Amino acid sequence: MKEGQATAIHRLDYAPPAYWIDTVDLTFDLDPAKTRVLNKMRVRRNPDAPAQPLRLDGEELNLARVLVNGAGTSFKLEGGQLVLENLPEGDAPFELEIFTTCAPAKNTQLSGLYVSGDTFFTQCEAEGFRRITYFLDRPDVMASYSVLLRADKAACPVLLSNGNLVEQGALPEGRHFARWQDPHKKPCYLFALVAGKLVAREQQIISRAGQPHLLQVYVRPGDLGKTEHAMNSLMASIAWDEARFGLSLDLERFMIVATSDFNMGAMENKGLNIFNTKYVLASEATATDADFAHIESVVGHEYFHNWTGNRVTCRDWFQLSLKEGLTVFRDQEFSQDMAGSPSARAVKRIEDVRVLRTAQFPEDAGPMAHPVRPDSYVEINNFYTVTIYEKGAEVVRMQHNLVGRKGFARGMKLYFERHDGQAVTCDDFAQAMADANPASPLALHLDGFKRWYSQAGTPRVRAEGAYDAATQRYTLTLTQSCPATPGQPDKRPFVIPVELGLLAQDGSALPLQLEGEAAPGTLSRTVVLQEAGLTLSFVNVPSAPVPSLLRGFSAPVILECDYSDAELLTLLAHDSDAFNRWEASQRLALRIATQAIADSALSTGAEGQIDSKILPASYIEAMRSVLRHPGLDAAFKELVLTLPSETYIAEQLDVVDPQRVHAVREAMRQELAAALQADWAWAWEQHQHTGAYRPDAASAGRRALAGLALAMLCLAARASGDTVWPGKAYQRFKDAGNMTDRFNALSALVASGHALAQPALARFHQLFKDDALVIDKWFALQAGSPDRGGNVLPLVRQLMQHPQFSLKNPNRARSLIFSYCNANPGAFHRQDAAGYVFWSERVMELDAINPQVAARLARALDRWSKLAEPWRTAAREAIARVAARPDLSNDVREVVTRALANV
Ligand code: TRP
Ligand code: ZN
Repeated sequence: MKEGQATAIHRLDYAPPAYWIDTVDLTFDLDPAKTRVLNKMRVRRNPDAPAQPLRLDGEELNLARVLVNGAGTSFKLEGGQLVLENLPEGDAPFELEIFTTCAPAKNTQLSGLYVSGDTFFTQCEAEGFRRITYFLDRPDVMASYSVLLRADKAACPVLLSNGNLVEQGALPEGRHFARWQDPHKKPCYLFALVAGKLVAREQQIISRAGQPHLLQVYVRPGDLGKTEHAMNSLMASIAWDEARFGLSLDLERFMIVATSDFNMGAMENKGLNIFNTKYVLASEATATDADFAHIESVVGHEYFHNWTGNRVTCRDWFQLSLKEGLTVFRDQEFSQDMAGSPSARAVKRIEDVRVLRTAQFPEDAGPMAHPVRPDSYVEINNFYTVTIYEKGAEVVRMQHNLVGRKGFARGMKLYFERHDGQAVTCDDFAQAMADANPASPLALHLDGFKRWYSQAGTPRVRAEGAYDAATQRYTLTLTQSCPATPGQPDKRPFVIPVELGLLAQDGSALPLQLEGEAAPGTLSRTVVLQEAGLTLSFVNVPSAPVPSLLRGFSAPVILECDYSDAELLTLLAHDSDAFNRWEASQRLALRIATQAIADSALSTGAEGQIDSKILPASYIEAMRSVLRHPGLDAAFKELVLTLPSETYIAEQLDVVDPQRVHAVREAMRQELAAALQADWAWAWEQHQHTGAYRPDAASAGRRALAGLALAMLCLAARASGDTVWPGKAYQRFKDAGNMTDRFNALSALVASGHALAQPALARFHQLFKDDALVIDKWFALQAGSPDRGGNVLPLVRQLMQHPQFSLKNPNRARSLIFSYCNANPGAFHRQDAAGYVFWSERVMELDAINPQVAARLARALDRWSKLAEPWRTAAREAIARVAARPDLSNDVREVVTRALANV
């Protein structure tokens, strides 16, 4: 457990550090049971801070010795901190030497120095460095690091740390050493070391600037064949950052190391990125198209941090989105640029928005809602959230939209000119953007815009249009509001860029001319809503138009507009904006779902399934024409034909009966499967893959649509009793040349509940039993399978007994436990509350092992207060049971306390 008490830290309490640490000289004698760490620092008082003792953070360390300028000194240990009061007078630097030991093999939290499969790894963000040595563990203290690693040569042939390798050699007793020096100053959260038995794929490159660099991807022996895609992604990232932003690699050597025990996706340690194996290892036989795409974007993300995060870092952890929001924006842009065609870019945008709306909107409406720049926290690990990352990226994207692509590049340039080598704030970023674009709407409304950083909650924009045929005038009124969030009862208006266009009833685009403008202009433009309301008067509009609003999802808001079904069908068929075409399909489906959920007249069967027909013929026909459309990309069709998730549907309701939501969505899928059966069969045949496997966007899109078609055909077969398609699915499962097709076929069988699912699962396990990442898929698929008479929970409990299950490995815990609690609402929200009991047991069990991961699981019931009875009471009781535990980590305690407090 953590030392110290759970007290909130407030952004406005920020004060500069009392001391600076200029250099750090670390010596590690690595041993899994007891690692010795000698930490020699050059320290000086901060002349701009009031005189005070030096308080160094430490956690789970054994302190052996403290020396100041080579001599013993008095010290205290207070609440985990090492306090030094008798330090040399004056501002002159002094040498502080601290000798401690720690136990990496016992570190199950995976924060600090730990062992994974006999290899040493570190994870220091956000506050893990204090678990390695006593330090000023805060990002505004930046130092030059020199690191000496010593270890047994047979056990740890590879010794890595940040920067450049300056010396290595043998030592007595079979040991050896390596010395690394980082040429760049950095905060301690970017420190890293890796030591163990690893092999590397290497690549020499010459940058645009003519500089040579060595790139390495380190993995366990045996995994080298799965590193090609990661290396290609790294090379593409380096080229992209040079081309798009003029940012080059500032190190001779850049390393990526993969570990199978990791709390998150990856970490941007300077020159030594450490990755979850999930985001490095890929082969066509073991990884899906989605895995390939994630690897590309995570490799890009960590690499882009080298400038946005490392060269310019955060002043304090409240500014986390300064680096995360900006870097997510950059990785999203990178993936779009890599995807190529406008349609493939739109697909990526839709996928990103889907994540935002299914994960971040609920967060923004729930008990953990917080601004992109939070005002307080108890445990910073709890604030690595979709709000900081994904909403933060939207806030950067809006700035991009308000200053334009070139203006944004200018703003980035100014940001680095001003702040390279500094630890800064979100304000500094927005100020640089505005100052580089003084005439832009961002600069004109900067204070209002910055409310996106300070106010939580998802704004609602209401749009109302009125057409006057006599004057050929179309008046569009936009108004905004934002619901209260914890600690923020009232909100002031946001600055909201709304990209829009008008369509004639026949779907053609109308030129936009606002009252007062001399001539019709473009077909699409961005207006800025920066007060409570805005009225736009379009003139020379020949007939009543259909407005296409918030094109490309130009702001992270909920847009309310009373479209008729016919208008949505027009947008779906004709909008020039691919995002809004997809959005129209989602609105249609959502409307059908919410009406059916409320419709008590629908007849339901014994297992709660809905027997009545729900889908209007117009919707089915629209879906058919999208599916058969000769001009649309397969990836886009797959997105349109996939119904909104249960989570997203639930967010639209005031009171949620999760079983009803599940039943309605299933009924809609079943009906779509049956009504389009011939079309699905056509789509399956048309999108068979030919030739060698390539993970590019176009081929992945074809596989995605074929996969959806197969799933729908198996679903239709379930209802009709037909055995042809399950048979075909089994055949495809057996013969598939790549994991995407194989796993899609397996999922289709599992989802349809066909008897062939069992032999297929067994065969899959047999084939891949030695590949941890594939076994994760095997666990996840079963935990996410549709509930039939309450069978999933017993299955999950049984799988916990499987010899390959371990709660200690975060990937495995996520694959089974999170897949059930977070990703299978129909099976999790049981009438008998057994799902919630299971959840509370696992949260408490995990908390003793790994509080960071436990706290993420703890968030599965965030939205409990929206549930209908009996779920609501049962969920609250489950949370209260967790909260009643006296020995909880700060991480879990903060989550459950907020869940119970903010209703
Ligand atoms: N900074 C990392 C990223 O977004 C993620 C990260 C933060 C992390 N804290 C972590 C990773 C703790 C592992 C463990 O790229
Ligand atoms: Zn990041």
